[in-house]
Amino acid sequence: MRHLITTDDFGIEEIEQLYKDAEDFLKAPPPKLLQNRLIITLFFENSTRTRSSFEIAAKRLGADVVHLDVAKSSTKKGETLYDTAANLNAMGPDAIIVRHAQSGTPYQISRHVDCAIFNAGDGAHAHPSQALLDLFTIRQHFGGDIEGKRIAIVGDIKNSRVANSNIRLLRRFGLKITLVAPPHFLPKTDLPTTIKLDDILDDVDIIMSLRTQTERHAHPIYGSLKDYASDYCITKERIGDRKILLLHPGPVHRNIDIDDAMLADPRCKVLEQVKNGVVVRMAALKKLILAND
Ligand code: NCD
Repeated sequence: MRHLITTDDFGIEEIEQLYKDAEDFLKAPPPKLLQNRLIITLFFENSTRTRSSFEIAAKRLGADVVHLDVAKSSTKKGETLYDTAANLNAMGPDAIIVRHAQSGTPYQISRHVDCAIFNAGDGAHAHPSQALLDLFTIRQHFGGDIEGKRIAIVGDIKNSRVANSNIRLLRRFGLKITLVAPPHFLPKTDLPTTIKLDDILDDVDIIMSLRTQTERHAHPIYGSLKDYASDYCITKERIGDRKILLLHPGPVHRNIDIDDAMLADPRCKVLEQVKNGVVVRMAALKKLILAND
């Protein structure tokens, strides 16, 4: 039984194939490859993009989608998460898509079910489908030529599952990563790091800005996010006319992570990422569900 818990679950060639499928799905209405399949979404944390993206991806391929409303489910009556998962599994889904605040939950659930588990984000650990769509967007932008491209990941890297998954994935594809953040947002790493955003702007092809993960901070770190913004906000003034591809997984703290002018700038591909997210998730659903037959 195969799952998507981290990006390491897919080999490089499998990812190449995944992207071929995603490109095909962008070009033409997809065949109903997952007709009569059942996919359950189980989100214990808030989500705008990821849940709707997975659900739309599943429906585009003809699958039936059921969302378990966790706030009204029996986990609220004291049922363990694993019993909830085992009960859902007994209804015969082909995949369960899980988001949880606790790192490791999707992996644990995968041991209690016999369908594919897709990790839609677990704590600060991993968010593999986001990293896969980010890399897809980078490749699309550079026409596939990404070896050696330089990317700065900027913001609350230590608490970001998006950053974690991207660091692992982008390294495998030969990108050169620099981490840019105040010291308390930097993880222990062997990658180059800097606290000065302005110092690296002439040496990067891509900037991936991240939201400050305030919900994961035990104590407030900044008196105000405006203090953070003065050093790390990606503003048009800072970027000037440099040819930089600007990414952000969303939700964006507007004028904290990226300013209004850069969000409206054609170099900012945030909505392209969202669009690509649907086809990349379609390809991932197709791959694992058909592989598990
Ligand atoms: C991210 C997440 O939930 O991990 N959002 C997303 O899935 N697009 C990033 C975030 O919440 O900052």
